[in-house]
Amino acid sequence: MEDSKKTLFSGMQATGNLTLGNYLGALKNWVALSDEYNCFYCVVDEHSITVRQDPAELRNRARKLLTLYLAAGLDPEKNCIYYQSHVSAHAELAWILNCFTYMGELQRMTQFKDKSAKHADNINAGLFTYPVLMAADILLFQSDVVPVGIDQMQHLELTRDIAQRFNGIYGDVFKIPEAYIGKSGAKIMSLQEPTKKMSKSDENPNASIYLLDDPDTIMRKFKRAVTDSEGTILYRDEQPGVKNLIDIYSACTGKAPADIEKEFDGKGYGDFKMEVGETVVSVLKPLQDRMADIAKDKAYVDNVIKTNAEKANYFANKTLRKVQKKVGFPERIR
Ligand code: TRP
Repeated sequence: MEDSKKTLFSGMQATGNLTLGNYLGALKNWVALSDEYNCFYCVVDEHSITVRQDPAELRNRARKLLTLYLAAGLDPEKNCIYYQSHVSAHAELAWILNCFTYMGELQRMTQFKDKSAKHADNINAGLFTYPVLMAADILLFQSDVVPVGIDQMQHLELTRDIAQRFNGIYGDVFKIPEAYIGKSGAKIMSLQEPTKKMSKSDENPNASIYLLDDPDTIMRKFKRAVTDSEGTILYRDEQPGVKNLIDIYSACTGKAPADIEKEFDGKGYGDFKMEVGETVVSVLKPLQDRMADIAKDKAYVDNVIKTNAEKANYFANKTLRKVQKKVGFPERIR
């Protein structure tokens, strides 16, 4: 990794089927940033078990997600692509940071409130301290920037508070990270209820495009996508379904919404939806093919997993050792 570059950290959970929203809203932007920064892209499998998981499925999905990172174009030679559970410093730093985080702060986290309502039968301590583990992820690597969606901003704010608190006591140990809100931070909405975010866990299968959907399925879902009765293709809040389709088309092609309005001026919704569908197929099909190719080369993927975990461990342990010393743990005897 190059010293002159700033450090970027981000992570995704390997739970649920990844959607077009995850790709256009997050992963695609990561790839665009991966030249400019030293990037750590983590598969946050430790966060996943805050909700009950099927072990075989979790393992399977984690590997798929890592393969997807590679297929999307993240270079494992220049960046670091790894599993959180392969770097024990995450859990160790999280423990220490737990002791610098207040119950009241964690009680205010909206994601905790939402998730405990959703999983009322399993409100475990890990769900509660989830944001502390996330803080550890970020702070371990002295990250400058963290690309996150709006829903994770509160966790990033807390990370900054914890880091500042720690630094206030022990001196400059942690870099204070900034949020990176992408320029084309396309928030992709449900195709069926376009005022709701496209979600991995939507019960209506027509609401979300999954990254592994085949072309026919993608086309069928776009054909059924909700528009409105206005009949015009304009980029405005009053037409959330059309606006979402324009956003998707824009994110796939790089064209500006105003130009897209012109391109489809006078055309009907049927044609428009077909065109958006075909464009999405033209983005996802090559990604799926690359994923399949990469997955076939088991030795290559295994080697990435091994060498990148070593890299991540090296950087993470540097910070962890410093923190352990600051809080007063005994020195290791070599
Ligand atoms: N909590 C994040 C999410 O659900 C995932 C995540 C874990 C993360 N650790 C992170 C994102 C560190 C950015 C940085 O989306």
